[in-house]
Amino acid sequence: MSRIISTAICALFVCSICSSVASAHDLAAGKALFDASCSACHKTGLLGAPKLGDKAAWAPRIAQGLDVLISHADNGFSGKVGAMPAKGGNSKLTTAEIGNAVAYIAEQGK
Ligand code: HEC
Repeated sequence: MSRIISTAICALFVCSICSSVASAHDLAAGKALFDASCSACHKTGLLGAPKLGDKAAWAPRIAQGLDVLISHADNGFSGKVGAMPAKGGNSKLTTAEIGNAVAYIAEQGK
């Protein structure tokens, strides 16, 4: 009986970890996607894009929340400095894939 309970507690614990924001997205896949589809602008700052790892540029954006960032990256977004094309211009990408890339960007900008 106690074994069942401890297994249940253990499962609960693992689930609470997997639902936390950082691990809800696949950061390794996000990095690969970033390198392939986002880095052209976000590595160099092309067209005014906030650069990867530029904490000052990302802090106010991250403050909007990850969901807003993902929606802006997924649907496109025109801000003060320029235009972020929907899905970085690669219409084959899914929202989940965009989410991975945005989570990776946000991790680097913290
Ligand atoms: C053609 C250049 C370009 C490409 C490619 C590009 N971006 Fe952007 N992105 C921009 C620009 C420019 C901005 C800033 C818009 C502004 O704030 O005026 C931006 C802003 C963003 C933001 C911040 C949105 C906000 O609410 O502040 C996110 C997140 C983002 N891009 C994610 C991505 C992801 C993920 C990819 C790859 C799938 C990508 N971008 C590819 C140009 C690009």
